[in-house]
Amino acid sequence: MPAPTKLLILVGTMTNTAEYVAQAIEMDCADLIESIEVRMMNGLDISVFDGDALYLLCTSTYGAGDVPDNAHALYDSLGSQPKFLGHVRYGVIALGDSSTHPQTFCNGGLRFDERLADLGAVRVGEVFRIDAAAGTEPEAVGTAWCRDWLALALQAEAKA
Ligand SMILES: Cc1cc2nc3c(=O)[nH]c(=O)nc-3n(C[C@H](O)[C@H](O)[C@H](O)COP(=O)(O)O)c2cc1C
Repeated sequence: MPAPTKLLILVGTMTNTAEYVAQAIEMDCADLIESIEVRMMNGLDISVFDGDALYLLCTSTYGAGDVPDNAHALYDSLGSQPKFLGHVRYGVIALGDSSTHPQTFCNGGLRFDERLADLGAVRVGEVFRIDAAAGTEPEAVGTAWCRDWLALALQAEAKA
């Protein structure tokens, strides 16, 4: 399989932190891949995975361990319109707060990961958690992680 030329970042957010992380990645990682697109999850469905991009789900967690409001349509469609996603390679940045929500820490991202894996998509690397309680800057830790992750993902595809 040729290495993907595009990174598509799908953003699930309520108060924009995940969006800022995605935008920082778009700027910081531009030298690593031909193109990076940041797309809000609003109104998307499973067909967004029809392309040949490398996918990065960047989503926070709301309610009791749920995906944010703008991610529901996409998340639900992975269950209601299931299809085999064996061609999909993806990563996950999961945002949450371990101090206020220890039982459901980062579950929004973990839910996407579980559903994508169920459909045969292959995660590259581990889920990266950004903890609001850690006192780190989400954009800084997110871009640093993504540079390593992107290198790993592109290497893996070039070898495949
Ligand atoms: C009402 C509410 C519910 C939340 N529920 C969870 C949760 O269940 N698990 C978790 O890890 N974080 C939870 N969080 C924390 C957010 O996911 C975290 O602050 C995140 O950085 C917000 O990102 P966003 O600005 O992109 O939405 C919750 C926050 C709020 C305000």
